[in-house]
Amino acid sequence: MPLPQGLAQRLQDPALHALVMGAQEAAALIKVGANVGMSGFTGAGHPKAVPLALAARLAALHAAGQRDARVSVWTGASTAPELDGALAQALGIEMRLPYQSDPTCRLRINAGQMHYTDLHLSHVAPLARSGALGPLDVAVIEVVGILPDGRLIPSTSIGNNQTWLDLAEQVTLEVNLQQNPALQGMHDIEPTWLEPPHSQPLALRHPRERIGQPFLRCDPAKVIAVVMTDHPDRHTLFTPPDDVSAQIAKHIVDFLQNEVACGRMPPELLPLQSGVGNIANAVMAGLNQGPFEHMTAYTEVLQDGMLAMLRSGKLAFASATALSLSPQAAAEFNTHIDFYRERIVLRTQEISNHPELIRRLGVIAMNAMIEADIYGNVNSTHIMGSSIMNGIGGSGDFARNAYLSIFMTPSLAKGGKISCIVPMVSHHDHTEHDVQVIVTEHGLADLRGLAPTQRAERIVQQCAHPNFRPGLRDYMARAQRSGTGLHTPHLLDEALSWHSRYVKTGQM
Ligand code: COA
Repeated sequence: MPLPQGLAQRLQDPALHALVMGAQEAAALIKVGANVGMSGFTGAGHPKAVPLALAARLAALHAAGQRDARVSVWTGASTAPELDGALAQALGIEMRLPYQSDPTCRLRINAGQMHYTDLHLSHVAPLARSGALGPLDVAVIEVVGILPDGRLIPSTSIGNNQTWLDLAEQVTLEVNLQQNPALQGMHDIEPTWLEPPHSQPLALRHPRERIGQPFLRCDPAKVIAVVMTDHPDRHTLFTPPDDVSAQIAKHIVDFLQNEVACGRMPPELLPLQSGVGNIANAVMAGLNQGPFEHMTAYTEVLQDGMLAMLRSGKLAFASATALSLSPQAAAEFNTHIDFYRERIVLRTQEISNHPELIRRLGVIAMNAMIEADIYGNVNSTHIMGSSIMNGIGGSGDFARNAYLSIFMTPSLAKGGKISCIVPMVSHHDHTEHDVQVIVTEHGLADLRGLAPTQRAERIVQQCAHPNFRPGLRDYMARAQRSGTGLHTPHLLDEALSWHSRYVKTGQM
């Protein structure tokens, strides 16, 4: 049978022609209860047809009374409505790992209708390879094309794809015609990992260096289906930088300039890591206007802000595991892909987020947060202590190992009803030991070398919104007078009272 139009150029391995089928047929090959490893990272490079068809099948089984019609879904990071959204809507997910940001998924998790294991992104592949997560039954991986010898041209994210391909008993490949074939050559897939105690040093000394090949490897005997798709990535819009994010960016640029002046940083800075979301994106816009030239990035996700920095020449090179672009930035990327292919490398997330490399390269980690407390502990994941927002992602991988670890947030949330600086965080993702700098629109608190009570003074003075400073100072003063433990003074009955007040009254 002739291949569907457009697929012939992409599917060059004749041995796989007989496995071409529709998404419904391919989804029917995934057993209820399976552990499914899918490609996908920050809305890029996820399979788009098979998950939708799987969701429809699981929904039909639910409607027929089969309440255990679920699968467990492992990915690189967040995906998109046609994967996380559709499967969560169908009540089709038993367990999800390691990161999500989908509104329906979030709703289901917070309603106790599905399990979610929120993991450091660099930990996922080693955990899976160790067998601790159980067997991986199927991998569903988006690719740009398949070469005559079966090697796979990766898509707009790498994430955990090579590990899923290595571990899965069966593999389904989605060839997405929408993805630019000129992506070929932008990736670096490491050789097979040797596990401890046999693991070897990772020989990267600069974000530009490569240690592998630009293709994913797959045992052809495992492939059970090849599905053609023609759908774009998620391409979420970022909110344009506003006054608050512009102020945050300014504080960071000023601080980094001072670090250069003090000789703690070279003039081109150390490699940048920029987290997910609007604030992180806006800070990149600030750096693009700033004084630094010839910067590099060793980061997890490359958003619009970094793409603009590459285009302007401020950023010379970026290493990441995924692109996460708005529709306009994606169009710009595709129009000038030859330019970007010289300046971007996409790697496995275990490498993009590897502690050894982050420490060796001396990365400047800049991540957004939900709240920080007066002693510098940071919550990146939970609202009011119990509801998940997205997940820890790579923020812990970077913050713990960075040369400089910066966390940023507007000082207020929900129209001023919430202070993002609180007496005690309602969930701890990053302890005071991993947080060196906190920034809000009001200022920047450099916490390096400070004891807890000194940190509290500085965070409240520099970062808290003026409306909440008196309340925080009152708490600190009474905690210090309490006579118990004066190293990190707290009033245990009151430490989370700001959160419980918000839950009860809608105002901290
Ligand atoms: N209390 C309650 N809600 C809060 C809050 C607080 N202290 N601070 C922020 N929020 C809410 C906002 O109101 C907004 O809610 P909405 O979606 O209902 O409007 C939401 O959290 C997102 O906030 P926003 O200001 O738009 O931030 P963002 O897009 O920059 O994202 C994080 C911020 C923390 C959610 C995001 O960066 C994240 O998920 N981080 C964790 C993972 C990570 O750091 N990855 C990077 C590693 S490479």
